[in-house]
Amino acid sequence: MDKLRITGGRPLEGAVRISGAKNAALPVMAATLLAPGVHRLRNVPRLRDTQTFARVLELLGARVSFEGNLLTIDTLGVNSVEAPYELVKTMRASIYVLGPLLARFGRAKVSLPGGCAWGPRPVNLHLSGLQAMGAALDIEHGYIVGRDVKLRGAHIGFDVVSVGATAQLMMAAVLAQGTTVLENVALEPDVTVLGEVLVACGARIDGLGTRRLTIQGVGTLRPIDTTIIPDRIEAATFAAAAATTRGTIRLEGVVPDHFEVVLRKLEEAGCTLQRGTDSVTVSGPQRPRAVNVVTQPFPGFPTDMQAQTIAVCALADGTSVIEDTIYFDRFTHVPELARMGARIELKANVAVVKGVDRLYGAQVMATDLRASASLVIAALAAEGETLIDRIYHLDRGYETLEKKFSALGARIQRVS
Ligand code: EPU
Repeated sequence: MDKLRITGGRPLEGAVRISGAKNAALPVMAATLLAPGVHRLRNVPRLRDTQTFARVLELLGARVSFEGNLLTIDTLGVNSVEAPYELVKTMRASIYVLGPLLARFGRAKVSLPGGCAWGPRPVNLHLSGLQAMGAALDIEHGYIVGRDVKLRGAHIGFDVVSVGATAQLMMAAVLAQGTTVLENVALEPDVTVLGEVLVACGARIDGLGTRRLTIQGVGTLRPIDTTIIPDRIEAATFAAAAATTRGTIRLEGVVPDHFEVVLRKLEEAGCTLQRGTDSVTVSGPQRPRAVNVVTQPFPGFPTDMQAQTIAVCALADGTSVIEDTIYFDRFTHVPELARMGARIELKANVAVVKGVDRLYGAQVMATDLRASASLVIAALAAEGETLIDRIYHLDRGYETLEKKFSALGARIQRVS
């Protein structure tokens, strides 16, 4: 199993080009099922998750090819509606095929994702929403099964803001008969952009960028031709690395508004920023200041940056309080950071981080994607060598991470 060996202590300097967003690419890949034809998605990151999703589409009968970051998906030959457990268990986002399959074929058999490293992560809102649209769904042997489904418009209000459920029901509604109203929807750029992509293919969606969407079903959609937006979480992760290493990193090819809340928090922590139209240069302070963070749905502070922010706070002057209101158990990085000398007290979903003036290299284990990124950020700033085990988690969501960090001057190496 691959590991990362990092020798910390060097300020990172230089420019990094940010890749396409994983969480924007996955729902668009699912949306290709809505229209038979050849779809072109540019700037798709080459990640384990996009590859897994490509495999799901292939099993359904699509022809998929990656050339560089151009992903071509031909959905003309889709002839199966089954997404098997073997793939869904490795990537929960596979559930995104459910709505499109029901919308286009009236049938689907999609494995229930099951648990996750940091808690139950239910899909009840996806299922109740589809049921409200007329889909009779059964759970059979671990699979969500729909037969003879004719989706029709419905009025659905979410009691929790959910990225996945919003994207799922938007995809279902664009081909449903009649009008669907979705209330309290997610505003993450990944969701809004999915809506824009669907509109460009002929869908009728009003209210994109607001909490209320009105979707008029249409008979057919044209194939997708789009460029995936830059990954705001990847960008913010590199920004956090500048903060812990006293470095100066220019993030290129970004939409600063998409992670403005993280940038503001880094400024509060003492970073100096220069914002351009599609770039941001982040310079880290001598030592970060403590900051308090509460994760919230967009435009609030993203849960996907909670772990990396704890790594910054671990080195800060003062005590930081970090609360995750989206995922209560997403703290597997905490005991690993403690092995590197961090002083963090965890009380339910709140981490109290007492900053130390240095971290030390240690052997640590990556436990999920963002937790791994947090360990990388800590290791880049730590004294001595850190060996991070199980880095396949990083390969799910960061494109050529160690190459990008090496180019910024980090001593980072993948070892078997
Ligand atoms: N929730 C429910 N019921 C549902 C769906 C969600 O109660 O049916 C709850 C969740 O338990 C959570 C909250 O709603 O408390 C928000 O979850 P959401 O549905 O928004 O999460 P998701 O769609 O499963 C996406 C990203 C995650 C990211 C979250 C929150 C993708 C593929 N995944 O997940 O990304 O953390 O939104 O922003 O887009 C990552 O990239 O590392 C990652 C985990």
